[in-house]
Amino acid sequence: MMKIKDIYAFEVLDSRGNPTLKTTTILEDGSVGSAIVPSGASTGKKEALELRDGDKQKFNGKGVLKAISNVNETIAKAIVGLDVFDQNLIDQTMLDLDGTKNYSNLGANATLGVSMAVARAAAKSLNLPLFRYLGGINGSILPVPMFNIINGGAHANNSVDFQEFMIMPFGFDKFSDALRAAAEIYQNLKTLLDKNGHSTAVGDEGGFAPNLKNNAEPIDLILKAIEKSGYKAGSEIKIALDVAASELYKDGFYHLEDKKFSSDELIDYYVNLCEKYPIFSIEDALDEDDWAGWEKLTKKLGDKIQLVGDDLFVTNEKILLDGINKGVANAILIKPNQIGTITQTLKTIRLAKRNGYQTIISHRSGESEDSFIADLAVAVNAGQIKTGATSRSERNAKYNRLLEIARLNDEFLGNKI
Ligand code: PGA
Ligand code: ZN
Repeated sequence: MMKIKDIYAFEVLDSRGNPTLKTTTILEDGSVGSAIVPSGASTGKKEALELRDGDKQKFNGKGVLKAISNVNETIAKAIVGLDVFDQNLIDQTMLDLDGTKNYSNLGANATLGVSMAVARAAAKSLNLPLFRYLGGINGSILPVPMFNIINGGAHANNSVDFQEFMIMPFGFDKFSDALRAAAEIYQNLKTLLDKNGHSTAVGDEGGFAPNLKNNAEPIDLILKAIEKSGYKAGSEIKIALDVAASELYKDGFYHLEDKKFSSDELIDYYVNLCEKYPIFSIEDALDEDDWAGWEKLTKKLGDKIQLVGDDLFVTNEKILLDGINKGVANAILIKPNQIGTITQTLKTIRLAKRNGYQTIISHRSGESEDSFIADLAVAVNAGQIKTGATSRSERNAKYNRLLEIARLNDEFLGNKI
């Protein structure tokens, strides 16, 4: 047992320049663990609450001083003195203290910051790397990344509807080789965009954000960049998309490429796209409330490609269970701040795995230098991670951490998912 001696939080800036919390836990043996909480832009409706101050005088209302005072006063009072190794009890204490299902009192940004900082301090106290503390000797698989190299939707102000166009390097034995392949493709894509007169400015997750005419053109350009880099699309590098379709859904229709699509029409659009391109995975292909559409989509494409629920499941065990029972999707995106604590995150991952759903540990579009999710992905043998392009240090912090873990744990088995 090792008691928590102190917990505090303060305001820092995220990758978009908005305030977020940095939380620190100090133990009786002097071990210190800190964590920075990320923040989304295209959030699911059922996500846990991210508490913002709403004081227009400060950060346009986006300040997090209330969440910070919840950490420094309410949560600290309840948690100081508890055993840092009892993550379950600590997280349950915060859930009880809040008294709601979605942290609408304390804020999930407050609770997640504490939860992560507690896990880090515990690992420090045992002198273990975080992934080893979280996963024990079983956590050993390095994830295959989804590298988001073209950004659209809510993450960029360009003309592309789909939010993320990603590459997944499957054909490599080592994480470092997979990362190098992605980095080379990223640079060749930049040259290609430039030569074709497109902007090489980047979006929130480090991918390029050119104005392209439809949602197939980014894939064509990516395939060219893969070829230029000397890799084989399909066998070595596969394509993954995050449509973030909830952002395109209005008045019963999906609005993209200047047209209106019904749910059925959009499913046909995906079927065609998958016939034409080496697509491995589509995330949030339909609106978060279009469950009838999701059932049809899963029947049509579920045995051919990975169908990921992000806004759909919001890392929520209960909603995922509903999806499992209804045969909706076959994979879940895992974002700890959608649900509010590490314990709840782990429970959702366990449920997914027990039911044969793939798990992808994910960043948010608003990130920081914190690389917690890299350790988490290895700890739970997630198999996949989604954490942006191979540019911008808040994205590369995760990839660089995975390189470090790979040195400690020289395996790359995620490609066998
Ligand atoms: P967000 O987007 O972090 O802005 O919510 C990421 C995603 O949709 O996967
Ligand atoms: Zn998403």
